Amino acid sequence: MFFGWNKVSKGFHLASTWLTVFGASISALWILIANAWMQFPTGMTFNPDTVRNEMTDFWAVALSPIAINKFFHTVTSCWVVGSAACIGVSAWFLLKKRHIDFAKKSIQIGAIVGLVGILLTIYTGDGSAYQVAQKQPMKLAAMEGLYKGQTQAPLVAVGILKPHEKAMQDIENPSYFNIGIPYALSFLSYRDANAFVPGITDLLNGGYPTQDGSKELSAKEKMESGKKAVMALADYKKAKKAGNDYESKKQLEILNANYANFGYGFIKDESELIPNVAITFYAFRFMVIFGSFFIIMFLAVTYFIGKKKPFENYTWFLWLCILCIPLAYMVSQSGWLVAEMGRQPWVIQDLMPTSAAISAISSSSVATTFIIFCVLFSVLLIAELSIMFKQIKKGF
Ligand code: HEM
Repeated sequence: MFFGWNKVSKGFHLASTWLTVFGASISALWILIANAWMQFPTGMTFNPDTVRNEMTDFWAVALSPIAINKFFHTVTSCWVVGSAACIGVSAWFLLKKRHIDFAKKSIQIGAIVGLVGILLTIYTGDGSAYQVAQKQPMKLAAMEGLYKGQTQAPLVAVGILKPHEKAMQDIENPSYFNIGIPYALSFLSYRDANAFVPGITDLLNGGYPTQDGSKELSAKEKMESGKKAVMALADYKKAKKAGNDYESKKQLEILNANYANFGYGFIKDESELIPNVAITFYAFRFMVIFGSFFIIMFLAVTYFIGKKKPFENYTWFLWLCILCIPLAYMVSQSGWLVAEMGRQPWVIQDLMPTSAAISAISSSSVATTFIIFCVLFSVLLIAELSIMFKQIKKGF
């Protein structure tokens, strides 16, 4: 697709373009289903003999609400990134007064796809936030810098957080300043403006009523339950090896009863359960604020291109379009920071903490692999960027 321009027929090139889109989206689907499963493990049962979570329901995994939201949010946000790149490169052509008609057409298409993309991204982003509230409440609390739960909770539009230790001592006022949108967090999280949104300390202390009316366990209770599950698995294996059916059945019952908290059995201190609040909080604001900025940006592009004055004469705006290329990438990466930093300490939510997932290999081999990856990917990045820049400079 990239090198085929003018080398193959137009129809062939168009077909390969659509196939690239389709192939990349399908590839993203499987990656995101796997990622979503780690954030919300479902459709599996734990097999104590193989010590694996084994899939029992493919569709529950593939169509989990987290997987669906992640897929559509990621793909539509890529439309935004792609449109920003298309508009930015075309703006560069206009600045250089080359391929003027082609660049203008590309800008028009980019603005339409971008506008549709950003509206869908916001819609699916809202769906993602709703799912996070149900399935990963600690991530939501970190995203909002919410230390003490609230009914009618406001959504923080902008704010500066106190350092985590200070905020833990002053949970009523965890930020130096913030501007909140009244009721919005309760509504966005539970579709009820009066709903209670638990904060970080509530999630540690437990005791508040959950949506289904039961009482939420405290972190300590979950850690005790998790330890029972971990012990029961070890005792089950011993009993099985010794051929003691009665004991292995008993241990299996204990394991199953406590399995939902299995990962908590590896947690030594409840403070480990809190993700990095500052990174999650600021990355979320960066994504939403600059993400929303793209609505204005795409509307402005449509406005300026429709005006009588030639679009190429708005030099400052063309530069802004070029700057939007890295900005869109940064917005997208900040989304990943929210998703992955916010889920810590879990590799698999509630079942496996990151600390238990690391392999027993020496730090020197980790360092060596890391350096090899850094060098290799930097070389690939430089190669890719130089090919792209060369191709853009060359035009067509
Ligand atoms: C403006 C409204 C937006 C909202 C409310 C929103 C909401 C969210 C939420 C809640 C997550 C975390 C999902 C999870 O942890 O499972 C997320 C992740 C993400 N966001 Fe956004 N987002 C918005 C805009 C954007 C924009 C404009 C982009 C990119 C151009 C973007 C790209 C991403 C990416 C790549 C992820 C990681 C994948 C994922 O977890 O879905 N978001 N977003």
